[in-house]
This record gives sequence, structure tokens and C-alpha cells, in this order.
Amino acid sequence: MTPQDLPFSPAAERNKGPILAALQAWLPRHASVLEIASGTGQHAAHFAGARPDWTWQPTDRLSADLAGIRARCADLPNVRPALALDLLAGPWPAGLGPFQAVYCANLLHISPWETTPALMRGAAGHLVPDGLLVLYGPFFIENLPTAPGNEAFDADLRSRDPAWGLRWLGQVAREARQAGFVARANLEMPANNRVLVFQCSSERPTP
Ligand SMILES: C[S@@+](CC[C@H](N)C(=O)[O-])C[C@H]1O[C@@H](n2cnc3c(N)ncnc32)[C@H](O)[C@@H]1O
Repeated sequence: MTPQDLPFSPAAERNKGPILAALQAWLPRHASVLEIASGTGQHAAHFAGARPDWTWQPTDRLSADLAGIRARCADLPNVRPALALDLLAGPWPAGLGPFQAVYCANLLHISPWETTPALMRGAAGHLVPDGLLVLYGPFFIENLPTAPGNEAFDADLRSRDPAWGLRWLGQVAREARQAGFVARANLEMPANNRVLVFQCSSERPTP
């Protein structure tokens, strides 16, 4: 696959810089990171390229995406070959982790609600005891006016699939709590997005 043939997301190209800054503020040195729903692999390539001390494990549910991610990250020794991982299908690949962080961008609103608890449960079972779950994307936030752009985005998503749509922060946080996480950060990002950071609590339930 030549660079011109690689799948490309203009949004990922725009948001990779601000997301990297947030990750740098939260992830430890030498972190091993599991990425869920890597898509084109632009985030994996940008973050792992900027931080050679991090080890990045990209995944996606689509085998077509995996080939593109592998090609894009082929020259990065700290990126592991992309693996198939579908949050809504069966157990996660055997032998994964534990990781210092699980990172997932732009998935929860472009998939059925069931992916949210599945992500929380799976992440809790694949993190070190104080590990971090970092989410990026647009969310509805209780008691805050919704940006017109996010209202329109939500309506568009629901017209494409009624099971899709922006998630309420409170509901996402409740699922995280039930999986044994505590909320650590809720960062405002460009274009009405957020970075949410959850951390495994010492009292988390056994997966
Ligand atoms: C909008 S793209 C986001 C890609 C990338 N994270 C980004 O921000 O550019 C959504 C991704 O979620 C993946 N996805 C959808 N449903 C999934 C599931 N059940 N399990 C894992 N990945 C899923 C899709 O294959 C797609 O790559």
C-alpha cells in the first residue's frame, strides 16, 4: 500500500495535535497503550511517532482497516501490528496487556450504546491497577448548553443509524464507575469535543 492509497481522515489530521497534548499531560513515560477503534491509524502513527517511549497497540474491528493501520505504522518500531478487536463480539484477543492506558477516540457516538459498557468492562480488565482510560469525542453534558454543531451532528448520526448518537457524559461516567473507574479529567477540546480521563480505582470489581 503506497502512502497515497492509505485511508485518510481529515478530522483525525486536525485533532491529532490537541489530543497528543492531552495524552502527554496524562500518560506516564514508557506507557504501553491499547487503542480501540484505530480507524485509519493516523492517531497511532502521530502519537507513537512523537513518543518513542510509548508502545502503541492499535486495534479495529474491520480487517480492511487493519491493513491500512499496519502500512501506515510500518516504520514505527514502537507500534505493534494492528489487531482485530470488536467491542460487540466475544472476548478481546488472548494475551493482551495489561496496559498503562486504553485510548479510544470517536467511537461511542458512532456505534450502539452497548459499545460503551463493553469498552468500560474490557478496559478495566486490561489495565494495570492505576491504569487510565482516555476517551475523545463529542458528548452532551448535563447542565451545559449544547453547541449547535453537536445538535446537528447528533441528528445526522441518528438519521444514519437510530442506535448512534452523542452520549450523555453522566451516563458514560456511570458506566465507567460501574466498571471500577474514577473520573480524573474532563478537558475541553477544539470543535466541541472533550477528552475524558478515567482511572482504575483500587476498589474496582474483578473482571
Ligand atoms: C469515526 S471512526 C474513528 C477512528 C479513529 N479513532 C479516529 O478518531 O480517527 C470509528 C471507528 O470505530 C470502529 N468501530 C466501530 N464499531 C466498533 C466496535 N464494535 N468495536 C471496535 N471498533 C469499532 C470503526 O471500524 C471505525 O474505525
